[in-house]
Amino acid sequence: MPQTPLILVLNGPNLNLLGTRETDIYGTQSLADIEAAVTQCAVAAGLAVEFLQTNSESQLVDWVQSARDRAAGLIVNAGAYTHTSVALLDALRMVDMPIVEVHLSNTFRREEFRHHSYVSQAATGMIAGFGSHGYELAVDALTKLIAKA
Ligand code: DQA
Repeated sequence: MPQTPLILVLNGPNLNLLGTRETDIYGTQSLADIEAAVTQCAVAAGLAVEFLQTNSESQLVDWVQSARDRAAGLIVNAGAYTHTSVALLDALRMVDMPIVEVHLSNTFRREEFRHHSYVSQAATGMIAGFGSHGYELAVDALTKLIAKA
């Protein structure tokens, strides 16, 4: 039987505080709530999921590198590292699989420094502004991209 394709959902700094962090911008769902919804969607679509969060840039780079020989796709919300991390971009450039960038908020409606994303330069596409639902939209997009690959 073919192996179930694995997707990694990588979450960057301060996303562990979702549910209490600037709820007017990020909503009231916790990261655990989002993980439960993503897992349900992914399993229903025939995918396995690893849902991860770190405040560390180097850990994000390590996880992206680890995806190279075990994952079929990536969902990345790199938090503030989105706007600063060339190291993360370089790591993402080395993975040969679909990458969906997610942001809970519409970063283009916010401060100017959030308008630029290094992650976007390696991503297949980006979903922003739909709150936690964006992660489910990302699973749907990845499912279709993986099926086509
Ligand atoms: C974010 C947007 C980033 O600008 C911010 O630094 C975050 C969260 C989002 O999901 O909307 O930490 O990635």
